[in-house]
Amino acid sequence: AGARLIDPFRREYYYLRLSITDVCNFRCTYCLPQGYRPDSGREKFLNLNEIRLLAKAFAAMGTQKIRLTGGEPTLRKDFLAIAENIAQIEGIKQLALTTNGYRMEKDVAAWKQAGISSINVSVDSLDPGMFHSITGENKFHEVMRGIDKAFACGYQKIKVNSVLMKHLNAQEFSRFLAWIKDKPIQMRFIELMQTGEMDEFFRNQHISGQVLARQLLEDGWQLQEKGHTDGPAKVFRHPDYLGEIGLIMPYEKNFCASCNRLRVSAKGKLHLCLFGEEGIELRDMLQSEQQQLALQARLFSALQGKREHHFLHEGDSGIRRNLATIGG
Ligand code: GTP
Ligand code: 5AD
Ligand code: SF4
Repeated sequence: AGARLIDPFRREYYYLRLSITDVCNFRCTYCLPQGYRPDSGREKFLNLNEIRLLAKAFAAMGTQKIRLTGGEPTLRKDFLAIAENIAQIEGIKQLALTTNGYRMEKDVAAWKQAGISSINVSVDSLDPGMFHSITGENKFHEVMRGIDKAFACGYQKIKVNSVLMKHLNAQEFSRFLAWIKDKPIQMRFIELMQTGEMDEFFRNQHISGQVLARQLLEDGWQLQEKGHTDGPAKVFRHPDYLGEIGLIMPYEKNFCASCNRLRVSAKGKLHLCLFGEEGIELRDMLQSEQQQLALQARLFSALQGKREHHFLHEGDSGIRRNLATIGG
């Protein structure tokens, strides 16, 4: 085994967010309002074997959790094979999925079978019409049935993501709370993040997570203490609710202090942060089993360049075109 993934600020990375495709079939206003468009390059997404070798190297360095993201990861034809392969790797204890829920009703039983151990699904509105306006797809009822089906298939807790936007779904805050009163759902409100494709939209729609946090505390929600390996989300519980709330507030001062994740894009670049760097090429190291130690050395040395904090506070340098190429 090689060195563990520890950065100069003594944060340890046991969690890899792995994007397996940039393709998405939704057109979320905050992400891909024009829908997915292939970039000019011919380069393909990592294949099954490259993905397997990548996951093995991370696992050898202490990674215990891998999240499959995209784009929409479940659109890949070999999605189940990817899941099965990663789930079998020694050291991987949790294999998570982030999905728009499009295929959940049909496929969630197969996901479970393939080894997906937890699911985060986006639901930006509880109103079918608003859901359609935000995502570009009239799939609200399908996604909701998908969530029911996931519980029926044995998932005990599901995380639901919603990006609250001032003039779209922000009024639904209390409706979301009511919705999780008797459901084992962690409802996560994600602060809108500025991207290169939508800065005016950002200025009009951004709501600070602070406001939501204050509201929750006033309503009797209690901020939970963070465990050693927990990520940047702030989690709140309430004695009258089965569900929990998670707030993701990337513009908060100390957000990055608990950063526990690294990212690899669908074409094999390592990103030390959601924001702000070009990415470090890994693909040439994913061509044979014999390269594993060299790959691990590259990962370790790359990690030594990780910054203490993203630098969105310092102006707009580092903002991505959209988050679909890196899976959020
Ligand atoms: P868990 O793995 O369940 O803790 O959730 P997660 O928040 O890592 O996963 P998910 O894919 O559901 O992420 C939801 C969104 O939160 C992402 O798409 C991002 O928009 C945001 N997010 C997650 N991690 C980070 C991060 O490290 N930095 C920033 N700025 N945003 C993040
Ligand atoms: N701001 C905040 N969240 C975003 N996501 C994508 N783009 C943005 C953005 N600009 C989130 C969605 C989804 C997750 C995969 O990525 O909420 O839940
Ligand atoms: Fe697709 Fe997710 Fe982006 Fe929506 S947020 S367009 S579901 S990649």
